[in-house]
Amino acid sequence: MKILGIESSCDETAAAVVENGSKLLSNVVASSMNIHAKYGGVVPEVAARSHIEVIIPLVKEALSNANCSWYDIDAIAVTYGAGLSGSLLIGVLAARTLAIALNKPLQRINHVEAHVYANFLTESVVPGLSMPATAPDFPMLAIIVSGGHSQLALFKGHGNYTLLGQTQDDAIGEAFDKVAKILGLPYPGGPSIERIAATGNEHAYNFPKAKMSGYDFSFSGPKTAVLRAAQAAAGESFDFPSIFLPERLKMAQKADIAASFQRSAFETIIDKAKQAYLEYKPVSVVLAGGVASSGKLREMLSSAMSISLAYPDPKLCTDNAAMVASLGYYKLKLSENTTDPFTLDVAPSLSM
Ligand code: KG4
Ligand code: ZN
Repeated sequence: MKILGIESSCDETAAAVVENGSKLLSNVVASSMNIHAKYGGVVPEVAARSHIEVIIPLVKEALSNANCSWYDIDAIAVTYGAGLSGSLLIGVLAARTLAIALNKPLQRINHVEAHVYANFLTESVVPGLSMPATAPDFPMLAIIVSGGHSQLALFKGHGNYTLLGQTQDDAIGEAFDKVAKILGLPYPGGPSIERIAATGNEHAYNFPKAKMSGYDFSFSGPKTAVLRAAQAAAGESFDFPSIFLPERLKMAQKADIAASFQRSAFETIIDKAKQAYLEYKPVSVVLAGGVASSGKLREMLSSAMSISLAYPDPKLCTDNAAMVASLGYYKLKLSENTTDPFTLDVAPSLSM
């Protein structure tokens, strides 16, 4: 069964064709990130306009790269939430129109849940991607870390999961983006911090780790602690404006702050994941979301867990449509009702 996935929840427009939930036949992503980088974050109106320009050529490219015609596609899966409403609308309208015009079943997809399904892609005809050898088994602990979400979820099977905990304020990726801004590093912050952190001392600062109940997280306090440390390192008081900090800090100071923040943010996630692993004894643990592309996080998680872990290719951790198509397949297999293409609406604040 071949599913066409469509994703447009933030600044990436993406289309992919996946066979039987696991074999990647094509994967194309267009990003408007270079435009947003100038503003230090995603500008919703710019993102929506970029989606309109590229979505149809991108879908065509995904079909052609997969050597498929419309006759070969069995269903369409599209992200309908969570995300930016203007961005989501473009993908959803494209998918609805295609489903109606071509008479294909439509499956609506939760973006956060889809991130987990990057772990179920085990084969690829798309060159340059390293795929895990096998799909994870259930029960499965999912550590979801992205720009909009930080969650721990326990999956007992496809479509059968419990949310164990989540961030009560900033998502971890959002905190990386904000810390990068304080240090004057380019957007998106995660990769910029990982790069500069490699030259810094991760024990230079002991940033506080918020003590949250159960499996919840908080990343707002640590982000403020970084601001205070940067002001102190620049020899300034707490009312010194953050926009002038980048020019006042030396590269070595930025590297130490970045490395120490990265360590404490990842330790926060790993401590809770380890606690959940010991309590629920899952047979597999997976990492999902844009932050999961971090080599440092993978390294720290692998040495903290007593089971062997496999990770999706970093290109499939950040936003893409392959994960959407994979989840679409499992949802159809579970014979969940398909979505009415005439009425599907976007759900910007959809939760898991
Ligand atoms: O999943 P994603 O592509 O978009 C959302 O659904 O949010 O995640 C993007 C987030 C950004 O906040 C980015 O800074 C973060 O993932 N990220 C990283 C790394 N690569 C991307 N964070 C930490 N370390 C990285 N290497
Ligand atoms: Zn995402």
